[in-house]
Amino acid sequence: MSSFGQHPPPLLSLLHLSDTHLLGGDRPLFGVLETERKLDQLFHKVSGSGLDIAAIIITGDLADVGEAEAYEKLAGIVNPWAHSLGAEVVWVMGNHDKREPFSEVLFGQAASMEPQDHVYQWQGLRLVSLDTSVPGYHHGQLTDDQLAWLRRQLETPAPQGTLIAMHHPPLPAPAPLMGIIELDEQDAFWGAISGSDVRGILAGHLHHISFSATHGVPVSVAAGMCYNIDLLGDKDRLLVSSDRGQAASLVNVYNDQIVFSHVGLEEMPEVHGFSAEFLAQIEALSPESRREMFSNKASDFNRTIDR
Ligand SMILES: [Fe+2]
Ligand SMILES: [Fe+2]
Repeated sequence: MSSFGQHPPPLLSLLHLSDTHLLGGDRPLFGVLETERKLDQLFHKVSGSGLDIAAIIITGDLADVGEAEAYEKLAGIVNPWAHSLGAEVVWVMGNHDKREPFSEVLFGQAASMEPQDHVYQWQGLRLVSLDTSVPGYHHGQLTDDQLAWLRRQLETPAPQGTLIAMHHPPLPAPAPLMGIIELDEQDAFWGAISGSDVRGILAGHLHHISFSATHGVPVSVAAGMCYNIDLLGDKDRLLVSSDRGQAASLVNVYNDQIVFSHVGLEEMPEVHGFSAEFLAQIEALSPESRREMFSNKASDFNRTIDR
């Protein structure tokens, strides 16, 4: 990737999505949500964009009622795309997921009821996935054992620091009802990562995009891939979910920053743009010439564009 500004290209890029809520068989969720098609749409676009993605991270509620068949279907869609992109897949447990089929189908392990916490590393960046699910419930929790395990993982810093992927985000949810099923004891979680090399948190569960920062650590909540909550829903409705707003988040990791960008899966008909053929010409220019050509409003180039 070329870089024309003061920052070098990112060390690596990740694709973060969440809440696919797949059902087994041919049943669309709520009878209308074609999440499989939306996943295909997204990966078609990612593949066509030429983005170099190190990992695809799906932060939970992979299956709506935890059917083995739903995990098989999801893996059948995501894994071939991941393979063609050269990306690793990180599966994270959500409250709708069930640990036994999750561990068996997605990790090829014996069916387990233990928390499904894992550690990954790409080019020095560590990612810890945490299982915030509570069997039989929708709210989230990290047990004392999980927090102790997390502390042990973080005792040794990773060369490029650590990201945490967890379904229930550690933040106050904008939709009040979601407070009933939020992550319990969030202070204990922040205490466990305090003073560590954690640089960011990727989460889901809210079914809308949100950002926050606590103690300087950014939290990025991805949209739902199946449906999304309309925070501007009519006041006469307590909660409005819609077959709209499905999107992923592009996570660009730099030495000293992380940049989260919304990437929608809807068609984006071009109204204006440049052919990739011009890249070599732009690269051949000196930085000063590039500045004059693209930034100077009076340049021939900009005057042509403006017309
Ligand atoms: Fe969900
Ligand atoms: Fe959830």
